[in-house]
This record gives sequence, structure tokens and C-alpha cells, in this order.
Amino acid sequence: MRIDIVTAFPKMLESPLNESMLKKAQERKVVEIVVHDLRDYAHDKHRTVDDSPYGGGAGMVLKPEPVFEAVEALLAERTYSEVILLTADGETFNQSIANEISLKANLIFICGHYKGVDERIRERLVTREISIGDYVLTGGEIAALTVIDAVVRLLPGALGDSESALNDSFQTGLLDSPQYTRPAEFRGMKVPEVLLAGDHEEVRKWREAKSIERTTARRPDLIEKFLSEPDAAKAPAHKK
Ligand code: ADE
Repeated sequence: MRIDIVTAFPKMLESPLNESMLKKAQERKVVEIVVHDLRDYAHDKHRTVDDSPYGGGAGMVLKPEPVFEAVEALLAERTYSEVILLTADGETFNQSIANEISLKANLIFICGHYKGVDERIRERLVTREISIGDYVLTGGEIAALTVIDAVVRLLPGALGDSESALNDSFQTGLLDSPQYTRPAEFRGMKVPEVLLAGDHEEVRKWREAKSIERTTARRPDLIEKFLSEPDAAKAPAHKK
């Protein structure tokens, strides 16, 4: 997979893309991530990428020319499965969208900023609009990082063998069971006996029960969906 990110604030992406799983996935050649500075496609010496909205009003709008030119330069190089705009009024991101996107080949992410983007960018360039939740961020950069992290960790080889993403919360349709590590007793708090005893079937049953208990308490909406459609949460079927 290759991911190209078009942004007016490339520095916002630098360190998150170069730490932890995203760094390892790039080193392992599971994904190639390239950040493009929108200001490189500006037409004036001030490198302007935004302007005030026609009709008046507060805030600034991303201009069409730099975004079109940045994206068209990429489209001339290779084919892309999706051109994704991060915007508060897009479809709300979730695990099943992450699974779906993780099966695609090349992706372009456009980070909206300021008041929004010129509507012609959505009309002509964008194939999908994603929001990471019902709140307003200053721009799409943090949203793009969120989506990219959730997608890349699903790609075969991104995580070590022992860290498979398939058992994550949401991937099963339920929240995870509680987790413990050494020591077996800490400040008087003991790790449940079943986890220490080494009976794998008993551990599996305990985890399932705790997972249902936790989901029932915290996310009754998820438990209803799980009970009525047990196969609804489908992990992505990546080719080996
Ligand atoms: N830009 C501003 N708010 C956003 C959100 N909630 N999701 C994605 N992009 C955004």
C-alpha cells in the first residue's frame, strides 16, 4: 500500500508517522507513506493556500488550485483506489471502514483546514469523505493520522506475529477483556487465578465472559448488535 497525504501543515504529521507501529510498518515495507506540502503548489510568493469565503463569513477556505495540482500530480504517477478528504461532515469512521480501506491499494488523504475546502475539490477530486467523530478539529491532519494508524495496523506484517489485530476490541464486535502482566500481585491487587493456571480453554472462556460483561456495562449498543448479528464484525481477509 502507498499512502500520499496532502497537507498545509506537513510538520504536524512528521513525528507521529515516525514512531511506533507506523514507523516499523514503513521500515518493513508494508506501507510507503509520503507527505506533500500543499504550499509547494501555491501560485504566489506568500505560498497562499486559503482565501476568504465568497458571500462572506468567518474563517478561511482551502483554495482549489493547489489541491487540484497536488492531487493531479499524484494521479499522473499511479492509480489510486480512493481520494479521501478528512472533514467533520464526512461519514463517521469506525473499525469496519478501517477494515474496508485496509484492503485497497493506494490512497490519497487530503487534510481539510480552516473553515473548509472549496466545494469543487469535493465534487471533482474526492471519492470518499471521512470524519473521525462528531466534534470539530482545527484541521484534518490529526484525523488523517487516526485513520492511517487504524488502517496500517491491519496490513499483513505491520504488527509482529504475537500482536495480531484480529482480536482487537471492535474487531470481534465486543470490547476487549481486562489484561494483566507481571507481577502477579501488585499493592495487594491480585491477577485473576485463571490467568495464572495455564489452562488455555479456561482462559478463553474467562476472556469471553469478561468481554461480554464489559461491553454490556459500557456499550449496550454494541452488545445488542453482537447478539442480533454475531457475524457483523468481519475482520479483513488479506491475501497471504
Ligand atoms: N476536520 C475537522 N474536524 C474533523 C473531524 N471530526 N474529522 C475529520 N476531519 C475533521
